[in-house]
Amino acid sequence: MKMLKDKIAAEGIVLSDEILKVDSFLNHQIDPVLMYQIGKEFAKRFQEEPITKIVTIESSGIAPAVMAGLVLGVPVIFARKRQSLTLNENLLTATVYSFTKHTESTIAISGSYLNQEDHVLIIDDFLANGEAANGLAGIINQSEASLAGIGIVIEKSFQQGRKKLEEQGIKVESLARVNSLTNGIVDFLN
Ligand code: G4P
Repeated sequence: MKMLKDKIAAEGIVLSDEILKVDSFLNHQIDPVLMYQIGKEFAKRFQEEPITKIVTIESSGIAPAVMAGLVLGVPVIFARKRQSLTLNENLLTATVYSFTKHTESTIAISGSYLNQEDHVLIIDDFLANGEAANGLAGIINQSEASLAGIGIVIEKSFQQGRKKLEEQGIKVESLARVNSLTNGIVDFLN
């Protein structure tokens, strides 16, 4: 997606060979105009699928997921990473390991909002090792809903996420695929 790649090229900061900082439009400050275009692009890429719900994970997945939900006219559910005072019944959970933080956490969604009639699109901001996406796919499996696929804003193609998800037969659509971040330069795959 050209608009996104141009934005990454203009404002992305390469922090190391593995980490790309995009706080100016995705992870801290949010660019709503870009997010709306991202929502439209996800809707287009999954137009063959009869999607009924979008599932994402707090916090940075929420903005692109809500925009895709707006375009598709379907509700958006975000998995919580911390315990919530009100989210305490009928929980579907998965354990997610973060390679960047070296920590394990439990993510949770209420089973009240997903059932076997649902056809779900997962959306997230980054795909690195695929741990978060894998956890979300596991939760959707528990709910007996079906999975349309996974939409990713920025994929780090030099990490294992896409491979792990595709090996399970999951369709992955990434709007920007980063081939490498070496020498401080963002090199795109597509
Ligand atoms: P994984 O889920 O694909 O395995 O990723 P990993 O554990 O490595 O990443 C943990 C967190 O770091 C996730 O966000 C993920 O989106 C983010 N992340 C991974 N690689 C990058 C990167 O190169 N740049 C940026 N900006 N983020 C990256 P999180 O901690 O859950 O944050 P948030 O969603 O609350 O903002």
